[in-house]
Formats: sequence, C-alpha cells, structure tokens
Amino acid sequence: MSPRRSSKTSPVKRILVVHGPNLNLLGRREPDQYGRTTLKEIEDELRSYAASRGVEVRFVQSNHEGDLIDAIQHAIGWADAMVLNPAALTHTSVGLRDAILAAGIPTVEVHLSNIHRREEFRHQSYIADVAVGQVTGFGAFSYLLGMQAALYVLQKERASDA
Ligand code: DQA
Repeated sequence: MSPRRSSKTSPVKRILVVHGPNLNLLGRREPDQYGRTTLKEIEDELRSYAASRGVEVRFVQSNHEGDLIDAIQHAIGWADAMVLNPAALTHTSVGLRDAILAAGIPTVEVHLSNIHRREEFRHQSYIADVAVGQVTGFGAFSYLLGMQAALYVLQKERASDA
C-alpha cells in the first residue's frame, strides 16, 4: 500500500481494517467461540457499509507480527482511522502497540469474543489504552460497530477542527 496524501482535508474518509493471526480461518476456527462467519463475509459487509457512507476501506490480514507493523506504518498518510482486531497479539505485542502510537492513527480495537469473559491471560490488552476504544463480544457485528465507532471519532474530530 503506497502512502498517499492524508485525507484530513478531503471529505472522503479512509479506514484500514487490520486482522491479526488466525483470523483468516474464521468460519471454521472454533466456531463456538468465533461464530461461522468467514473473514470474507465480514469484509464484504464492511465494504458495502463503507460504500454506503462514502468511505474508502482497505483490509489487511497477516499471521505475522512484523507484517502487521509494516501495514500500520504504510497506512501513515493514507488512513484516517483503523479498525484493528489484533487477535492473539492483543495480549503479547508491545511492537503492535508501539506501531499504533508511532502512526498516530486513531484506532478502534475489536474482538469477536468478549475477551474479559475468557481466560485471564486474555483480559490484558496491550492495545486498549492506546486505542480510542474497544468493542468486544458481539461476534462479527463487533467489526461493524468498530467501523461505526471509527467514523464517529472522525466526525467528532472534524467538528472540533471547524
Ligand atoms: C480475538 C480474541 C483473542 O484473545 C484471540 O487470540 C483471537 C481472537 C477475538 O476476536 O475474539 O485470535 O481477538
């Protein structure tokens, strides 16, 4: 993804949706935990919602921490906001956390499952306090809520710039 002029001054908003490890297997991965909706179905829904709101959206999924960090760095100057499901890296990755801080792109953290109702090691998020907020526990719908939250944040930003 090549960096482009920031759309801060443009009415078209741009959102990068980032999926972490193992989310490519959604649909058949622990369906009792994560549901049967595939990643493609989630992305199709987000794409059509974004189109209905005049928002440009891009998606990236990787099982590799460094690739996700690269994707976040490449989004500098392109993305106005990010919707991020860091998956297992939520609970381990200072690198991903630092990338969000370095990029300075408002980020909404999303999870399909409610991480606070699961094993104790999932209660800690290295992302939560550098995100604008967290949506957790609504299955595939968490992503749509996450995108709506990102747009809300951008709208608020624009209103306070005016
Ligand atoms: C997850 C929750 C994480 O704890 C887990 O490692 C995932 C998915 C979720 O969307 O519920 O891979 O981020």
